[in-house]
Amino acid sequence: MKYRMAIAAALFPVVAWAWPWSTDMMDQPSIKPQEGEMTPFPKRSIPVGTERIDDSGMLMTEVANREEAKPLTSPLPLTPANLAKGKALFRIYCGACHGLTGKADSPVSPKIGAIPLVDDYVQKTLTEGWIWGTITFGSYIMPAYGDPKARDDGRGANDLSIEERWLVVNYVRHQLAKDAAAEPTKTAAAQ
Ligand code: HEC
Repeated sequence: MKYRMAIAAALFPVVAWAWPWSTDMMDQPSIKPQEGEMTPFPKRSIPVGTERIDDSGMLMTEVANREEAKPLTSPLPLTPANLAKGKALFRIYCGACHGLTGKADSPVSPKIGAIPLVDDYVQKTLTEGWIWGTITFGSYIMPAYGDPKARDDGRGANDLSIEERWLVVNYVRHQLAKDAAAEPTKTAAAQ
């Protein structure tokens, strides 16, 4: 008897209500797209290419990758205080690889292929947004300094805040080359 029923179910699947176009599974209590309340966006995410101040007063300029960051421009004014902060951060976060004055003359620069940041390529060809994006997401060898995905609490492993990254960009583009010109290149240290 059981055997016969199995054959019947196989031959006439309508008995099992399983026609491919059956929508039974869709009619259930779960929330469908555009229904109910919208899930809040993950912490620190905002629409691409816009800037706003978040609840804690921090300047937000979050994008998904370096390409999206390209058209951004620094939202921070070039005050002497901001440039001084950018310089301090640069010496802590960038100097080890790119040299304290960005001339790629630190002992590790040639070993890992860190490029000079005082050349036209970085000073003129790259956009401010691309440099900010490079600091945020890293490059090929260069590590990321602001990728919010790097840690559960939303801070990158070696993080600079959004604002700090712009301070570094301001310094790189508006004072680094002047500081570098004032100091001799340390060729001896490059080996
Ligand atoms: C651990 C070493 C290291 C540190 C620290 C580092 N960089 Fe780099 N950076 C590199 C290397 C190596 C390259 C070249 C290869 C690459 O693109 O990854 C590079 C490339 C760059 C580029 C060029 C990107 C491009 O598109 O060609 C910029 C701009 C830059 N770094 C800026 C910075 C700034 C600003 C900091 C400080 C926040 C910094 N780097 C910290 C290693 C480093």
